[in-house]
Amino acid sequence: MKRKGIILAGGAGTRLYPLTDVACKQLLPVYDKPMIYYPLSTLMLGGIEDVLIISTPKDTPMIEQLLGDGSRLGMNIEYAVQPEPKGIAQAFLIGEKFIGDDGCTLILGDNIFHGKLDFFRKALSRPEGACIFGYPVRDPERFGVIQFDGDYKVVSLEEKPKEPKSNFAVPGLYVYDNNIVEYTKQVQPSPRGELEITDVNLEYFKKGELRCEPLGRGIAWLDSGTPRSLLEASNYIATVEHQQSYKVACIEEVAFNMDFIDQAGFEKVISDTRSPDYRDYLEMVLKERIEG
Ligand code: DAU
Repeated sequence: MKRKGIILAGGAGTRLYPLTDVACKQLLPVYDKPMIYYPLSTLMLGGIEDVLIISTPKDTPMIEQLLGDGSRLGMNIEYAVQPEPKGIAQAFLIGEKFIGDDGCTLILGDNIFHGKLDFFRKALSRPEGACIFGYPVRDPERFGVIQFDGDYKVVSLEEKPKEPKSNFAVPGLYVYDNNIVEYTKQVQPSPRGELEITDVNLEYFKKGELRCEPLGRGIAWLDSGTPRSLLEASNYIATVEHQQSYKVACIEEVAFNMDFIDQAGFEKVISDTRSPDYRDYLEMVLKERIEG
């Protein structure tokens, strides 16, 4: 079974207004790159080359202008529109044809992961069921909340509970097998009229097919949905990039490192890059690879 990826990059972005009055949230800068580069590079680092990006009717053409068909990265990137924000899980109905007979990973376009992504690759290596993750936070009531027993077996899963049963939030990265479309069709819209991702995960849970991996301290999961968290995410990326002199989520570098493109493809990317600074960085990556 092949693994495909969906980036859900719609929504109204109201918490970031007026920043989101013209450009959507996922196109706003997180330090030196558009936000969507981060979730895209997460999928790429999991080895996912086929990606569907779903956004609003207004924003989809802008995202397509930014990322194109993915061929320069050795990828296939497709686009689809969500007419109205009717829930995160609607992505699987919109993406039904794209998913076809394959497994599907969903990542929210405003979720940023940094650190060793072995947890994600491990989840992708399992052919069946669903895998979500648990990340300890101070304010779990803002998220989907997962409760484990001593063996990290899922005990309960609730969307934004007033009284959270644990401090483990569920980040916006979900790995599913091919049953995802069928299970989504079994879910009814919630009282707020949305197809809730938590309800879809509960379908897997009821069937004993839901795994949850706790994320350790080595992983940073950053939210960028409010002005303050957007600034903090930018500061975080700036600090890491400045200290290490490597970029986080440079999609061209990731495509090269993951062998989506070969050296000739990477050289073509470099020669097509208009910004001298960004080009210098890509040239450094190439030089390091050639010199070992
Ligand atoms: O960030 C992780 C959390 O994401 C999870 O812990 C929650 O279980 C999950 O419900 C979700 O909670 P949020 O409160 O962040 O969901 P929100 O409605 O803000 O949507 C998340 C992103 O998805 C946001 O960038 C907008 C986009 N979106 C959302 C909906 C409902 C869409 O593109 N279309 C939609 O219909």
